[in-house]
Amino acid sequence: MKSAKQKAIGIFDSGIGGTTIWKEIKQLLPNENTIYLSDNKNAPYGQKSKEEIVRLSKKNTEYLLDNNCKIIVVACNTATTNAIKVLRQCYNVPFVGIEPAIKPAAIKTKTNIIGILATKGTLNSKLFETTSSNLESKPMIIEQIGEGLVDLIEKGKIHSKEMKLLLKKYLTPMINANADCIVLGCTHYPYLKKLIKNIVGDTIRIIDSGQAVATQTKKLLENHQLINSNEKECTTTHQFLFNGKSSILEDILTEYRNSITVEQKEF
Ligand code: DGL
Repeated sequence: MKSAKQKAIGIFDSGIGGTTIWKEIKQLLPNENTIYLSDNKNAPYGQKSKEEIVRLSKKNTEYLLDNNCKIIVVACNTATTNAIKVLRQCYNVPFVGIEPAIKPAAIKTKTNIIGILATKGTLNSKLFETTSSNLESKPMIIEQIGEGLVDLIEKGKIHSKEMKLLLKKYLTPMINANADCIVLGCTHYPYLKKLIKNIVGDTIRIIDSGQAVATQTKKLLENHQLINSNEKECTTTHQFLFNGKSSILEDILTEYRNSITVEQKEF
């Protein structure tokens, strides 16, 4: 039987987006086992109702807990901003969530104008509203729903013409308004960083929350004495599960192919 420390870190997202968080966690915590759920049968979450996002988040959490996870990382801004409160109330396990990094952006901006690209579900959430209205420096925030971006990413169309056109449409108002920081408020979007940089140039900072989530995961594991410090890195397991017809998980994780397994499962 596995000891509490040897149990896996459970991570979920609507698709491949949370792998941007998984990569940070793997780097910071190389001795930890992980189970990653890509609920791509139900992607995207961004346009769904709060009730539906809560229901899907509970389903994913229960699957991870049934598979013996010691901590749950909600690697999805949409699920965090709509469901993490309920998850914390319902399950007796530590949760780490991800929210758009508007606080660090508000500190870094010189023009006091920041842009944020995120899903409708995140931008319309109560949690996002509270966080953004509580910023001390009261920056001007240009919100943009990234409609269509997650769909294209999940279809593997990251470098498509369609993607470039959408990004140009979404980012131009931020550039014109003199924003000097753009927050990527969806875990899928770091896969678009290069394309975004090509559009906005070098003077605008692109900010995401990946590292902060990994740091918070480590802190919580330490606080609960759940760090798996004794295990050798080569013996760790990293399971990736998806429930749609197919997934591009393997394509985007090729550099890790010797240390991970990718499988289709019902959940
Ligand atoms: N990757 C997710 C997020 O961070 C979900 C995007 C979606 O499914 O719409 O918001």
